[in-house]
Amino acid sequence: MSRSTVVAHPNIALSKYWGKRDGGGNVPAVPSLSVTLEGMSTRTTVRFGEDLAADRFVLDGVEVRGEARDRVSQLLDRVRVAAGDERRADVVSRNDFPTASGLASSASGFAALALAAVRAAGLDWDAARVSDLARRSSASAARSLFGGFVELDPRRLTSDLDVLGAVCVAPSLHLDLAVLVCVTSEHAKALGSTGGMRVTAERSPYYRAWLDEAPQLHERLRSALLARDFEAMGYCAEASALAMHASAIAAGVVYWNAATVDALAAVRGLRAGGLAAFATVDAGPHVKVLTLASDAATVERTMRAVPGVLRVLRTRPGDGARVVEREDAAS
Ligand code: DP6
Repeated sequence: MSRSTVVAHPNIALSKYWGKRDGGGNVPAVPSLSVTLEGMSTRTTVRFGEDLAADRFVLDGVEVRGEARDRVSQLLDRVRVAAGDERRADVVSRNDFPTASGLASSASGFAALALAAVRAAGLDWDAARVSDLARRSSASAARSLFGGFVELDPRRLTSDLDVLGAVCVAPSLHLDLAVLVCVTSEHAKALGSTGGMRVTAERSPYYRAWLDEAPQLHERLRSALLARDFEAMGYCAEASALAMHASAIAAGVVYWNAATVDALAAVRGLRAGGLAAFATVDAGPHVKVLTLASDAATVERTMRAVPGVLRVLRTRPGDGARVVEREDAAS
């Protein structure tokens, strides 16, 4: 029996990944840059065992079957092939935040699963290779392997190089950033990111415009981050989120609810009042407000008062995925 337990955190993209390259392999169509968040976490244990007839996946105490379990098995299959190990696995995972509602549970989930599976199988892979494995299941997960500010850039992929992992571009203390996660719904989203991207690519008249715009926004955001220019970074982050959603909305892919719109207006109001506040929204209805630690209390008070904002979680840049328990024994 070989078992490994990993803790990973979600990340929030400042410049968004939305859309995939043709040709399979889950390669993003555009570069992205995220911040890994402390506070929220996924804890996943993988155990490979000869006693198991099939993979089993338990999420938040409930056994999951069907497509979600198959997605877990596909990652495990890649690990089994690499390790020459045919044993099935027991995967037990727990999120301390709502699953599948746009709070990036697939990012922390697949990051934790990838690292736990690789270590439980006894593979001595480096971080880039584990990140590449996570990316094949969910591209945003590639970024949660690392802490701080993390880039996933498909333009680094050449035909000779088949590993595309994320890289850390700045440590968590690089910027005194606070991220306020304004939760506007407790329900699971109707359409996942993978489906949302597919429909956007197929039907949006603005998908091409997004593909042209995203890399430029990404470069500006990256430079602003490295220069510790919070204002410039915030503008690019908000522009990236709005451009991504505009292209999706034009295809009928609407993740927002009324509170999302009100929260975005509140953030613009804060800025008009001279505060450092910018918004980003992933494939769900929640609004994440980027602010400086010095302004966070005031911004948080305003966001809590927005009708439809159910709660506000205050987080900040955090660490990458890490093994917290490991056990190797001949079975
Ligand atoms: C809006 O990584 O969930 O959060 O690769 O199909 O699993 P798949 O998609 P996923 O998409 C994340 C989309 C996003 C933006 C981002 O995190 O960059």
